[in-house]
Amino acid sequence: MNFYVLTLFPEMIQNVVGTSITGRAVKKGSISVETVNIRDFSTRKTMRVDDYPYGGGAGMVMEPEPVFRAVQSVEEKIGRKPRVVYMTPQARVLDQTMVESLATEDDLIILCGHYEGIDERVLQETVTDYISIGDYVLTGGELGACVLIDAVSRFVPGVLSNEESSQFESLQDNLLEYPQYTRPEVWHGRPVPPVLLSGDHRRIEDWRHEESLQRTRERRPDLLRNSYQVVCLTYGGEETAERGRLLTERLSRYGSYMDYNRRKLQKTRFRMRPGNLLLLVMPGTCGQDDRDLEKPDTGENASGYDPAVRFEERFRGLYGEDTPAVLCGNEQEMQEAEAFLQGRGFQVIGHVTEAAFCDEELLQKTALKIREKILHFR
Ligand code: ADE
Repeated sequence: MNFYVLTLFPEMIQNVVGTSITGRAVKKGSISVETVNIRDFSTRKTMRVDDYPYGGGAGMVMEPEPVFRAVQSVEEKIGRKPRVVYMTPQARVLDQTMVESLATEDDLIILCGHYEGIDERVLQETVTDYISIGDYVLTGGELGACVLIDAVSRFVPGVLSNEESSQFESLQDNLLEYPQYTRPEVWHGRPVPPVLLSGDHRRIEDWRHEESLQRTRERRPDLLRNSYQVVCLTYGGEETAERGRLLTERLSRYGSYMDYNRRKLQKTRFRMRPGNLLLLVMPGTCGQDDRDLEKPDTGENASGYDPAVRFEERFRGLYGEDTPAVLCGNEQEMQEAEAFLQGRGFQVIGHVTEAAFCDEELLQKTALKIREKILHFR
């Protein structure tokens, strides 16, 4: 991934980004960070790039032409128009889904302002994304650009080692991370929570989930509003179940599965809460394979799937409460499911076609889109 930072203080960027993990990534070639000095594009002999604001007022404003030419120089160099991010406090505050969305780009221009800001007209003409790093005002956009580069780089393949990997981490589920412990087992009279020494992975995962929830409740209750517990309901053959697992894993660390091939489940009443996200994964064309596998005597295949059970019958016990839902299957199945779920208290916010499972990158992007939708659902 290539970052092009347009700034009046290039050394500020290079000093920060050239250090630690981003510095290592630059050396390895996983990312490149090129700084472009806006002053080099000044139209004046004095090389000034700022002027007094029209209408009066304190401070100076950066002129449009040098900024425009600096953007153009990058576009000409790489032969395309990448996204142009302007760092400003007058914008949505950066979050993890925005970071991951930016990480899917090959090139990114980051524009840093100074003084009282940049002439509005060049922003209108060039900027695609406005990003703030927090509700406070800095002296310029450079520190914001460094924050952005650091956070985005973590998602670029090859930047983090396996141990540093970002697959599971704080904020993936819009939850803060659980507490961590290392040796010694007892320190200053404080023991490590016994569950972590149990070796029981299921219990450890449940404990971590609960700690994450509790910590988020205490420290960042605002995050909980957009935190969803993913519940994946599937029916069909092994291939369908595998799709359910693949998508759930990319949406949440703490997702759960329910196999609606099971007759007992079909008869049970199941009410999903507003804080759940229903992921309904249907057989689609995998259903064809499942039918081929039917056992002649029972009508069921190896996974217990009986294609003769009608959709409404299978989910007769399922209810939502203004619960968001994502559907995955073929067109006809999704239409049928949507009509049914809407009458049961669900709001369908996304559809995933079978093509999304063709390659890893596409699946990752699909999951990211769902996470973005969920973040703005309320
Ligand atoms: N420039 C000045 N303040 C900023 C902020 N909070 N975020 C991003 N860029 C900025």
